[in-house]
Parts: sequence; C-alpha cells; structure tokens
Amino acid sequence: MSKKRIAVLVSGSGTNLQAIINQIDRGRIDAEITLVVSDKVNAYGLVRAKNQNIPTYLLHEDVLKDDYNQKLLDKLQSEKIDLVVLAGYLKILPAKIIEHYRNRIINIHPSLIPSFCGKGYYGLKVHEAAIEYGVKVSGATVHFVDEIADHGPIILQKSLEVTNEDDPQSLQKKVLEIEYEILPETIRLFCEDRIQVEGRRVIIKQEE
Ligand code: GRF
Repeated sequence: MSKKRIAVLVSGSGTNLQAIINQIDRGRIDAEITLVVSDKVNAYGLVRAKNQNIPTYLLHEDVLKDDYNQKLLDKLQSEKIDLVVLAGYLKILPAKIIEHYRNRIINIHPSLIPSFCGKGYYGLKVHEAAIEYGVKVSGATVHFVDEIADHGPIILQKSLEVTNEDDPQSLQKKVLEIEYEILPETIRLFCEDRIQVEGRRVIIKQEE
C-alpha cells in the first residue's frame, strides 16, 4: 500500500506540525506530509515546513476573499491529499471542502470537547475559560471536522488534572504536551486504516 499523503494546515507556530514531523521521522507514522498550507504569511509553521523541504502553499488575502473555496480544494486534489490535518488553523474551512473530504479532515482542540469549544474558543481563551469555570480536569481532543466548529465525531481525547497553581499559560503548556501525543497517534491510526466512524461514534480497530 502506498504511503498516505497528508496536508497540514496551520496559522501559527506549528508546534503540532513539528510533533507530526518528528513522529514520521522516527518511523512511528508511515505517511508523508506533502503539503503545508497557511493563511498567515508569517506563520512559523511555514518555516518548519521549509526546514524539512515540505512544499508550502500560502493562502493570500485575495484568495481568501474571492476564491478560497475552489483554490484550496483544487490544491488538495491536485496534490492527491488523503488526510487534511488542522493543526492550529484558525480559519473556518469551506463547506465544499468538508463535504469532499468527509471523515478525512481532523482537528486538534485544546479542551475536552464538548467543553470550552466552538466559536471564539481558540488559543489562550480556551484555557482562561477553563480556569475561570474552575474545572479540575482538562485536556485535548482530536475529532473529525464537520460543518459545525469543534463538533465532528471525537477520535481521541486525553485528560489532565488542573491544579490550584495553574494559570491559563501553564494549563496551555500542559495541554500542548498532550496534543503532541494524541494528534500524531490519530494520524498513525488513520494511516493504518484503524478508524471507523459509526454516526457520532468512532471505533478504533485493534492492531492486526
Ligand atoms: C494548539 O493548542 C491547537 O490545539 C489549537 O491551536 C494551537 C496550535 O498550536 N488548535 P501550534 O501552532 O501547533 O503550536
């Protein structure tokens, strides 16, 4: 079987992208990142991609305004992408792309969905909300992307304890460590064809 071709979409520093690259380099994931897309010209994720000789695609302002939908879909199709990974990508994906890549787009979110997710919950805001609410447990979620923000079927979640000493910054740091585990792990499972979607429920098949 040929290696799956992955596109990673970023808007920022791309530490999750780096975690995926590292796991591929270690031979843990049998796949290739063949494209890194960004909507931000100064996203450090683009530098990480270039350092690895991964082709990049920048969604310029005019593309985002006029033809975002078709241009990005064309690019993903011409690159024969099997899996789209949203790793800190802050733009809402066009419905046409979600439809075309149903159950082949995953997103990492830094909370235990369905808490602290959806519109307006990004970056530090997620962790500020969690601390303010007083939760004792938080974590990260990888899910398939559907038409509603942070709503599609949940693939993997991992939790951690929120302590009295935590502030939004420390919580963000701890949650990122979990993200670096469960995002590459999800990609590994996807590449091994071990993820099965039944309605909202995701079944992880045992290793053969
Ligand atoms: C992560 O916390 C991710 O969960 C969220 O955006 C952040 C991206 O961080 N969607 P990075 O760009 O991977 O460093």
